[in-house]
Amino acid sequence: KGVITLDPGYKNTGSCESAITFLDGEKGILRYRGYSIEELAEKADFLEVAYLLIFGELPNQEQLDKFHADIKSHSVVDDDVKKIIDAFPKSAHPMGVLSSLTSALTAFNPSSVNVDSEEEMYNAIVRILGKFPVLVAWTMRKKQGLPLDYGDDNLGYVENVLKMMFKSPNKDYEQNDILVNALDKLLILHADHEQNCSTSTVRITGSSHAGLFVSLSAGISALWGPLHGGANQAVLEMLEAIKEDGGDTKKYMAKAKDKSDPFRLMGFGHRVYKNFDPRAKIIKVAADEVLGDLGVEDPILDIAKGLEKEALEDKYFVDRKLYPNVDFYSGIIYRAMGIPVEMFTVMFALGRLPGWIAQWKEMRMRKEPIGRPRQLYTGETLRAFTPIEKR
Ligand code: CMC
Repeated sequence: KGVITLDPGYKNTGSCESAITFLDGEKGILRYRGYSIEELAEKADFLEVAYLLIFGELPNQEQLDKFHADIKSHSVVDDDVKKIIDAFPKSAHPMGVLSSLTSALTAFNPSSVNVDSEEEMYNAIVRILGKFPVLVAWTMRKKQGLPLDYGDDNLGYVENVLKMMFKSPNKDYEQNDILVNALDKLLILHADHEQNCSTSTVRITGSSHAGLFVSLSAGISALWGPLHGGANQAVLEMLEAIKEDGGDTKKYMAKAKDKSDPFRLMGFGHRVYKNFDPRAKIIKVAADEVLGDLGVEDPILDIAKGLEKEALEDKYFVDRKLYPNVDFYSGIIYRAMGIPVEMFTVMFALGRLPGWIAQWKEMRMRKEPIGRPRQLYTGETLRAFTPIEKR
C-alpha cells in the first residue's frame, strides 16, 4: 500500500480476475470457458459461442432458441437512427460511425443504462446483440449508397448479418453457404481475447457504471487503432502497396527492421503470443479453403505467404518472437467475401461483441471497483503564478 509500481502498457499488471478466456502466450493456447478455440471454430456456431462466453456454459437447444428469439425481438432500431447515419459524410470511416451509433443507441433505449439486476443486464445484452448487426450492415450500406433495409429474422444470426449487408434492390438475394461458414468461423475466432486494449477499455468504462452501450462504444474506438483491430485493414493496405510496388517483399522486410523507419510489418507480433497465434493458424488454412471454394485467385495471398515465410526465417523477427497474428490473413478472407477494406475492423467489432459483453457483465457481477490507475508525477514542483503581462 502506498507504493506505486510503474508498468507502462500494463505489460505485467493484471487488472482483474476472470473466468472467461484462458490464454497461454508461450504455448499458443486460447480457450473460451475451457473449450479450445480449435474445437469451437470447427464445431460451434457464433451464437453458441456468444452464449458460452456471456453465460459460462454451452447452451442446450432450448436455451439457444430462447436466446436467439430474445435477440430477434430487439433487432429493429429506432427510425431516427437512419437520420443520424444520413448526417455522416459518405467518406466517414465506418469505425467512427459504428462507435457513434452504438453510443447513440443509449438515447433510444434509456432503460439499458442503469442495469443492476441480472434481469436488467440480460435485457440490455439481448438488445445490443439484436441491434448491433443492423448498425454494422447499415454502416456499410451507407458507404455503398444502398437503402438502409433490414434482413430476414427467420434466418440464423450470421446468415441475417450477411443478408443485411449484401442484399441489393436490383436482384434477389441468394445465400452463399461458403460465406456464411467463413464469417461464422472468423467471428468465433475474434469473439474474445481476455484483457486486450478494447476489452480493458470496455471494463474500465463500465466500471464507472456508465451503461453497456457507451462502454461498448468506447471499446469500438479502442479497437479502431492500427496496433489493435485496425491492423486487419492496415495489413491489406500494406499487402496491396507491396503488390503495386512490384511485389518486392524483401524491401518491406528491410523497412520493418529499420529502426529509423516507423513502418512495421502489420499483422505481425503480439503482446502475449510469443510462439504462435493459434487463431492465425486456423485463419491461414481457412483463407486457402475459402478462396478455393469461391474460386477467387488473389495474388495478395501469395505475397502474404511469401512475407510470412521470410519473416519466420529472419533473425530480427525470430529474436523478437514476432509471428503472424489473427489479423494477418483475416482481411484476405473478408476481401474474397466482397467486404470493403474499410469495413474489416467493423467485422472484428461484430465478432468481439460477445466477448466485450461477457467481460462487462463479469466486471459488474463481481462488483469490481472503479478502474483508476495511479501515476508517477514527473512535472514541475510548486511554482508562483506569473501574471499574463509578465510571461
Ligand atoms: N514489425 C516490426 N517490428 C516489430 C513489430 C512489427 N510488426 N512488432 C514488434 N516489433 C518489434 C519492436 O520494434 C520491438 O523491437 P525492439 O525490441 O528492438 O525495440 C519489439 O519487436 C517488441 O515490440 P513492442 O512494440 O515492444 O511489443 P508490444 O507488445 O508493445 O506490441 C504489437 C505488440 C501487436 C502492438 C506490435 O507487435 C505491433 O505493432 N504489431 C503490428 C500491428 C498488429 O499487427 N497489431 C495486431 C495485434 S493482434 C490483434 C489485435 O490486438 O487486435
